[in-house]
Amino acid sequence: MDFLETCRARVDAELSRRIESGSSASERLQEAMRYSVLGGGKRIRPALSLAAARALGQSGDTALIPACAVELIHAYSLVHDDLPAMDNDELRRGRPTAHIAFDEATAILAGDALQALAFEWLADAPGIDASARISMIQELARASGHRGMVGGQAIDLESVGKSLTLAQLETMHRHKTGALIEASIRIGALSAPGVSEGSLNALEGYAKALGLAFQVQDDLLDIEGDTATIGKPQGSDIARAKPTYPALLGLAGAREHLSTLLSNALGSLKDFGPEADPLRAMADYVVARTH
Ligand code: IPE
Ligand code: IPE
Ligand code: MG
Ligand code: MG
Ligand code: MG
Repeated sequence: MDFLETCRARVDAELSRRIESGSSASERLQEAMRYSVLGGGKRIRPALSLAAARALGQSGDTALIPACAVELIHAYSLVHDDLPAMDNDELRRGRPTAHIAFDEATAILAGDALQALAFEWLADAPGIDASARISMIQELARASGHRGMVGGQAIDLESVGKSLTLAQLETMHRHKTGALIEASIRIGALSAPGVSEGSLNALEGYAKALGLAFQVQDDLLDIEGDTATIGKPQGSDIARAKPTYPALLGLAGAREHLSTLLSNALGSLKDFGPEADPLRAMADYVVARTH
């Protein structure tokens, strides 16, 4: 998809320029941070920030650094998600996970440092007024913490081996994955000044549906994908008795749910014109992706 590829190139260039530059107290720590952020990754969250900004008439680079900040939180979440105390996975983005390539303590610290760096980048983002930067920091803090991604990860670990109801599973997914995807879109929207309430509500509906759809497809890929393509160990959820959509609804049921979520996401954008085409294309991509 052209839009995603263009965004990926811009985001990769900005991430590598920023993460390579500047001194660090520890060369090894900085190396682990670089390894965790730069080695691949689809960059879906920053692309969603940029697509949301575009839908609101902001086509320049204003949203780029905030978008990269969201990717730092995502990269940190993956490093910690793979740790032996969590999913205990050894492959990520087709390479050894950070705790295998370095060591467990370095991986924990690299995740901690990436999280702090995300907020530093947001606080310093150029071309955005101070009140919008504070709102972005609030969005990302909420979406990352105990009411968002970390809260969802806690539910995930508490749920191992249990069978959840559909409502409980949805709550878990909305927290662990949906929250950060929703924040990506809201942060992109905040980079565009003077947005109407109606547009923000429409983007909110899109974000909620897409955030959940993303994790449903991730659960499906854990079963239907192959390790070489997904770049992480296929079957990890089953091996660890994780509650997932296919485990609860079956493969066909999970696919059906995914297509309902896609229609909901696209339906939320009905009042937008071609300026929202990148958001539409991102939704199609998220549910059809093979890795
Ligand atoms: C994987 O996210 C983790 C989940 C939240 C399901 P991505 O599929 O976006 O991972 P990368 O960044 O492309 O590796
Ligand atoms: C992870 O969910 C969500 C995060 C907050 C990182 P998963 O555990 O399903 O992600 P993968 O499959 O390891 O990428
Ligand atoms: Mg996990
Ligand atoms: Mg995992
Ligand atoms: Mg998964």
